[in-house]
Parts: sequence; structure tokens; C-alpha cells
Amino acid sequence: MTPATNPLVAFGAGKVILLGEHSVVYGYPAIAGPLSIGVVARGVPSRSCVLDVPVTADAAQKRMMRKAFARAAKLVGEPKVKVTLEPQLPLSAGLGSSAALAVATSRVLLRAAGQEPTAKATARLAWEMEQEFHGTPSGVDHTTSAEEKLILYRRVQAPAGVTGRARELKSPRPVSVVVALAGARSPTKLTVGALRERQARWPERYKRLFGQVGRLVTDAAKAVEAGDLEGLGDAMNVNQGLLNALGLSSPALEDMVFRLRSLGALGAKFTGAGGDGGAVIGLFPEPEPVVAQLTRDGVRCFASQLAGPRAQGDIP
Ligand code: MEV
Repeated sequence: MTPATNPLVAFGAGKVILLGEHSVVYGYPAIAGPLSIGVVARGVPSRSCVLDVPVTADAAQKRMMRKAFARAAKLVGEPKVKVTLEPQLPLSAGLGSSAALAVATSRVLLRAAGQEPTAKATARLAWEMEQEFHGTPSGVDHTTSAEEKLILYRRVQAPAGVTGRARELKSPRPVSVVVALAGARSPTKLTVGALRERQARWPERYKRLFGQVGRLVTDAAKAVEAGDLEGLGDAMNVNQGLLNALGLSSPALEDMVFRLRSLGALGAKFTGAGGDGGAVIGLFPEPEPVVAQLTRDGVRCFASQLAGPRAQGDIP
């Protein structure tokens, strides 16, 4: 059964950050969009509220998923449902698998508890799960997944705790990326934690770099809305330089960035946490031939349209 016909089946989209990862944790803006693949959660009536973790997850991931599930389940009164997860994304590749999982699970839990899984209610519950996965998340991942739109996002420190503000970015031209996986990925908690130590030691230097990324994001948002893909691509390239300066890149990620640029990317950078490896995105007006070429070369990759008009017959 599809999510549309069975209320206890729900989808959570994966995400890519176009610009602004990491600095978004410190209150600077970021642009992120949803992927058409993510995580499907299926609920069936059960004697207790329980999570069936994916077999592909390792022991640490399973532990974290159970902890996050217990936290969310408690908040909705532990409805009697068994939730099974089907990830369509590689786990821990910087593509928002934990946020997708949190959003899909939250939608099922809310429905099982007799509540409407609106984008707001879903995001609120998914946020609780994300804190178990990431420690100090900015909220950009689960907000993008719950909204399923290209958004300009900013984390906000409010009296009631950390929250986020999101505005949809519409583009008159398709904004499409090739997502390619490179190297062995580092856990988000590690790269975020290591950067936190560096910025605590040299706060002024890192503040200047975060500020530069913030300005690029503002320029890039204008470029998206104007359909200026060349301007957007250039902002992505400069963002990659700053991510490298922040100590977040690696040979595997840089190699893939240059490979995508040599294939004609208007802009290319890593997306998400960075570190030893993970996902790299390239902005291409026509991504399909690039995916075909990279696949022939043995690179795990796919294309995704994040915003703009879709060709007739495209799956949204
Ligand atoms: C992870 O997808 C994005 C980071 O900026 C962390 C966060 O925003 O919570 C690295």
C-alpha cells in the first residue's frame, strides 16, 4: 500500500544542503532541498510501541534509532504500533537519512496517536529524534524533509529553545544536482564537534569565515530566485573553498568536486557533514548524461531536481 492509501505508511525525504552546512549550526543561513528518495516507515497495530530497525544499520546506528524512537514515542503517549523502516538512501552518507527517518517515523507515530501529521507537528516531533542522532543539530535537515521544498533556513534561539525559520525558494529554471558518493564518511557528530573545538579556540577567525559563508548563501538565494544558475554555481564553488578552510574537506571529497567540475558542473561542493568522505553535489543543467558517465566509471550517484519547473511526466 502507498502512503496515500494507508495512513500508517509514511515517507520522509532525504536532503542535500546546497550551501551553508556547518555555519548553519552557528545561526547563519543555509539553502537545502529535498531528494525524491528517503525513508519509508510502515506501522502495524501491535501490543506495544516498538521500532523494527533496518538490517542495514550497524549496532551503533540501531542503538541511536531505538533511543530516538523511544523519545518521540513517549511524547505522543506511546501508541500501540510497530514501526518498520525501509531506507532508500545510503545511511550516514550526508544525505539526511536520520532526518528522513525521523520525519517518516514521526508521521506514523502521530497518525497512530490519532493526531494530524502536519508539516509543523511532524517537524516538532522529528526535531526531538534528531537531537538523539546529532547532539546539536541546526534543524535544517528535518525541516527540509518535513517541508519537502527548497528552503532558505536559519536556526533561531528562542525563549522556548532552539527552533528554525524556513522560507521557500522558487526558481524559474530547474535547479538540478548530481549527487555522487566518495570515500568513507565521517559521522556528523564528529565533524560538528571538531569544528566546535576549533571555533571555541579561535572564535574571531571562525566567525569571519562563517560570516563569509552567510553572505554567499544570501547571494545564492537571490541567484536561485532569478534563475541565475551560473551565479548559484559560482557561490557553491566558493562555499567549497570556505568549507576546506574550515577544515572539513578531504582528498576523497576534493577529488570528486574536481571530477564533477571537469564534467561541466556549474558549481560543485560536498554536502552535509564532510570529513573523510560522503556526498558531493554538482549543479548541472542536464544531469542525466553525467550520471550515466559516472555510473559507467563505477561511481555511486544519482540526479535530483530540487526546485523549478519540471518536465512533463517527471516524478515530483
Ligand atoms: C548535516 O547535514 C548538516 C550540518 O550543518 C549539521 C547541522 O546542520 O545540524 C553539518
